[in-house]
Amino acid sequence: MSHFSYRDGVLHAENLPLNALAKQFGSPLYVYSKAALTANFSAYADACKKAGRTENGDNGGALICYSVKSNSNLAVLNVLGKLGSGFDIVSGGELLRVIAAGGDPRKVIFSGVGKGRDEMRLALQHDILCFNVESIPEVHRLNEVAGEAGKRARISLRVNPNVDAKTHPYISTGLKENKFGVAYEDALACYRDAAALPNIEVVGIDCHIGSQLLDDAPLLEALDKVIELIDQLESEGIAIHHLDIGGGIGITYDDEQPVPVGDYLGRLFARVEAWRKEKYAGRAIKVMFEPGRSIVGNAGVLLTEVQYLKHGETKNFAVVDAAMNDLMRPALYEAWHGVQVVQQRQDAARTYDVVGPVCESGDWLAHSRELAIEPGDLLALMSAGAYGMTMASNYNTRGRAAEVLVDGDKAHLIRKRENPADLFALESIAG
Ligand code: LLP
Repeated sequence: MSHFSYRDGVLHAENLPLNALAKQFGSPLYVYSKAALTANFSAYADACKKAGRTENGDNGGALICYSVKSNSNLAVLNVLGKLGSGFDIVSGGELLRVIAAGGDPRKVIFSGVGKGRDEMRLALQHDILCFNVESIPEVHRLNEVAGEAGKRARISLRVNPNVDAKTHPYISTGLKENKFGVAYEDALACYRDAAALPNIEVVGIDCHIGSQLLDDAPLLEALDKVIELIDQLESEGIAIHHLDIGGGIGITYDDEQPVPVGDYLGRLFARVEAWRKEKYAGRAIKVMFEPGRSIVGNAGVLLTEVQYLKHGETKNFAVVDAAMNDLMRPALYEAWHGVQVVQQRQDAARTYDVVGPVCESGDWLAHSRELAIEPGDLLALMSAGAYGMTMASNYNTRGRAAEVLVDGDKAHLIRKRENPADLFALESIAG
């Protein structure tokens, strides 16, 4: 069920008409639905429950660590934290966000290939659940930093299972040629090395093979490879207490049909259970996930107002007040986002390229869309909840959009619009 739907010809977020929100909060505006967020998280939580994997169950339970990079607004993190979510972070800044949002640092895992010493220190200080270490030099640095802090760092090694996620090359991360994780063939040696370090405690294994996957077959293939590695590690006396399969499940932008989360988790848990019972006499092994897009992607839209219509010989342009700095995905990946009029008109539609005011030909949001619009009308760029605001920039000294969270018939302003003065507040004139 979509939480963005038409009522009397006007697109609503839950019970609120989007044109009223634009009037109140201005444009461009990111609008999120709390009910959609909740439903998307529940798809994961319910599948865990169905498989008997409650948070601290005898089987090791499950932990869903929402991937903060997909949408890091404090209100979004707060909603998910209250639902029991953990968090997958990639910077010290994201950790501070989680804490500011009331999230539990003991449910935080720290991914990323380039963790700095300060970030490690901060994470140790907050006693995060686990560092997802991506290289041997990183594990040595972490050992040092933990030693200085008088702590032991819990780690899992991110292994690169060399599985083709069959997604856009920019968001495919599990192949040999990607910069992420340690090569599958090197993983055993890396684990031996890590296990011998005094301030490191090996607790898990993880992988993440890519994003916007429609099929779960590559994920299950990666799972099989991870399981194989756990068996080898166990035979060398290195015990693994959790396996983290990453995020990656896709969403519908256009007509894609991603595997339902419940089906994927059902198949994954069935494999894990059969193996765990056979090989480990039912010893506890926690299963973790790092979903981002499938939680928040379809829970948000970007509202934008049509400024000008330019009707040309070969093309018509709808120049809107949002741009590539607000939603970078089309310019960066040629990503397709649905464009819906907020208020439906009876007039004849024309074909438009929807473009922003930024001085780049790459500044487009949608190509060749049939739209019946006039200047001043509002458009909604659909499925913009994930990697929308978090990838926004201030290019062309454009303040980033405001953000609103809708909860039934209430709208909460969860981030104010940036003013130009905010953008140069940290700058000064030399001399
Ligand atoms: N875990 C790790 C280690 C990741 O690198 C990512 C995403 C996730 C989890 C969450 O993946 P998801 O469930 O959202 O697929 N900016 C791109 C997507 C980049 C994904 C980066 N990593 C886009 O707009 O499509």
